[in-house]
Formats: sequence, C-alpha cells, structure tokens
Amino acid sequence: MFRLNENYLKLPGSYLFSTIGKKVNAYAAAHPEKKIIRLGIGDVTQPLAPAIIEAMHVAVDEMGKAETFHGYAPDLGYEFLRNAIAENDYRSRGCEIAADEIFISDGAKCDSGNIQEIFSTDNKIAVCDPVYPVYVDSNVMAGRTGTYNAETGTWSDVIYMPCVAENGFAPELPKETPDLIYLCFPNNPTGATITRTQLQEWVDYANKVGAVIIYDAAYEAYISEADVPHSIYECEGARTCAIELRSFSKNAGFTGVRLGFTVVPKELKCGDVALHSLWARRHGTKYNGAPYIVQRAGEAVYSEAGKAQLKEQVAYYMRNAHYILNGLRDAGFTVSGGVNAPYIWLKAPKGMTSWEFFDHLLEKVNVVGTPGSGFGPSGETYFRLTAFGSYENTVEAVDRIKGI
Ligand SMILES: Cc1ncc(COP(=O)(O)O)c(C=O)c1O
Repeated sequence: MFRLNENYLKLPGSYLFSTIGKKVNAYAAAHPEKKIIRLGIGDVTQPLAPAIIEAMHVAVDEMGKAETFHGYAPDLGYEFLRNAIAENDYRSRGCEIAADEIFISDGAKCDSGNIQEIFSTDNKIAVCDPVYPVYVDSNVMAGRTGTYNAETGTWSDVIYMPCVAENGFAPELPKETPDLIYLCFPNNPTGATITRTQLQEWVDYANKVGAVIIYDAAYEAYISEADVPHSIYECEGARTCAIELRSFSKNAGFTGVRLGFTVVPKELKCGDVALHSLWARRHGTKYNGAPYIVQRAGEAVYSEAGKAQLKEQVAYYMRNAHYILNGLRDAGFTVSGGVNAPYIWLKAPKGMTSWEFFDHLLEKVNVVGTPGSGFGPSGETYFRLTAFGSYENTVEAVDRIKGI
C-alpha cells in the first residue's frame, strides 16, 4: 500500500491567492454590475516589449528550419543568454560572476522552491516575516519546519525575523543561528529594501556562522535609490555564502513566458563540496531547460532596444506605485514601499485586521488587494497593493479607497 509524503498534509489551508480568488469570484457573481479593480496578485499587465517579440519571432522561424532548429537546451542554459546576464547584471555592476555560475531556469518560483533540495533536512531556515510563501511551504514539504501552530501561524522549527514598522521592515540578525537564510530585496510583500551596508552585515554574519543566504532579487529592476544593492554579489564575501535568484517576470513581463536564473558561485562550499556541483547535478537530472525561443527572448532583454523599452515599462508601473503611495499618504493612510518596488504596504485603518480590510475594500469600493496576514503573522493588520495594474485602474482604485 502506498503512503503519502505526510509533510504535505501539514500545510495549512489553501493558498492565499486561491482564497482571494474565491472571495472575489463570489462577490462578482453576486454583483455582476460592479467594476472590480484588482490590485492583489503580483502579475504584470503590460504586453511584451517590441524587442522581445521580434526576437521571439526570429527564434520561432529558426525552429522551422532544419539548419537552425534547436532541440534540448544545454544543461545550464544557452551560452548567449548566460553571457548576456554575466555582462549586464553582474560585470557592469562590478560583480565577479562568471557565465558558468549562472543556471537558466523557467523562473524564480521553481528555483526558490527547489533550491532547498540540495541541503540537509535538518538545516534550520530563517525567513522574514512577512514572507513570500514559497520559501516556507517548500521547506514544509521537505519536512524541515517542525509542527504548525495554527494560533500563531508559525512553524516550530523556523526562525522568523519580524519585518515591522519599528525596524523599517528590515530583518535583524536572529538570536538563534540559522543554516539557511532567505532574504528578498526589494521585498515582496512589503516593498521595503535594505542598503548595501545592511546587506553587507548579513553577508559577514553568514560567513561567520557558516550559513547560506538565498537571496531573491526578483524585483531588482525596480530599484531607484543609489545605496540599494541590485545584487548580493555587490557585497564583499558574498561568493562564499550566497545564492542569488533572479526572474524575468517583473523586469520584462515574462510571467506567462517563464524565464529566470540562479547564481551559485563556485567558491560556495560545504567542506570541500561545491554547492555549484550539487545544483548542476540537480538541474541536469530534474530539468530539461527553458525553451530556446524563450532564452532568445531573454537575450533581447539585454539588447539596447530591449533595455530602453523595459526601462519605460518599469517606469510605467512605478508611476502607478507613486500614485498609490502619495495618494493614500495624502488621504491619511500609513503607507510604505513603492519607491524601489512595485508593492505598497498599507496599514489597515481603524484597527481592522488584514482580512476585515480586504472584505471592506471589496464590498465598499470593489478594490482587491492582498491581506498582509497571508504572508505571515507580522503581516497582520497590513495590506498589499500592487502597481502592476493599468494607470487608469490604479488612479480609479486609489480615488475610490480615498473615499472610504
Ligand atoms: C519574491 C518573489 N520571488 C519569486 C517570484 C516568482 O517569480 P517567477 O515568475 O520567476 O517564478 C515572485 C513572484 O511573484 C516573487 O514575488
């Protein structure tokens, strides 16, 4: 008789966004005349930039001819893309990352969920609270998190690092020593960032205690301030303690196209075993590569035309972010984020819980956001709005919220 991976049974409730989806669908079905504006899920809405579409068309045509057809991609990804990444995302910022330390994938969600596989199940993880749920849930599935306390919404074997107003939504070094530290900056959900000096403290700490930092830089393209690092490898010593995750979803609108990468420097070792070789083994065994057409599309992100077009696209979303941030602040709300990230973190007014505010906004002004408590206990009484809508909808949503 087969048995289940019982760790899956420990996972509480349904996924945050399916709960939101159900509530919104029920409301829409009951009130078909209402125009609901969705600023909840972090999905992009602008079409792919012309340079990317053009590259995809060329690649599609190549696939139609025997001389230029491509089958399975190389294990780490095509060199043309890895070279473009190494040059544009790293060397141009003074970071010493070689093309063969870059592993192309179909996105940062898979990589952030899969990366824990190369570590022992008795490693202790530390996560920010609130947090992108994939880091915790993938460790629950692996049996690394102990037991769940439904009252506190926490796992017994996870170190939580509260990111709250008092510390500027930046985690403090934990009292208990972790083995794996998940950091994400600019942050989802709070939209907060940390400075290069603050990140350097984390790198020094990880090197001192022998921990690995898994650094999710999916929102790097939204950074506008000079002292905010784009990559953890801008910090000295990061090559011996950090893995970096990147995505093409938010900088280039690839949420439906699917492309990302993970950087594992060759100096990052446990004893004399390089994590690079373990991740290469895992990648080669369980993954057959992002499609050629998509990798060519990724290459176009780094072309001169691609860079210019994507700068405009990011600016479009950040204009929304500024409208939300300034509009709600002027209306008396307590808001943060929205400067180096497409997320605005809003304190629910009048002592409401996150879900009470969710229901209130949905029912009173037909605007959908994400309850902060869905990202962890320290997210309670907060609410996330995204800048990924159209400008017109964003303006209308903010004006409606101001009126409540
Ligand atoms: C912090 C963070 N990491 C990773 C992802 C997933 O990115 P991808 O679309 O590349 O899987 C998201 C998506 O919202 C995210 O917020």
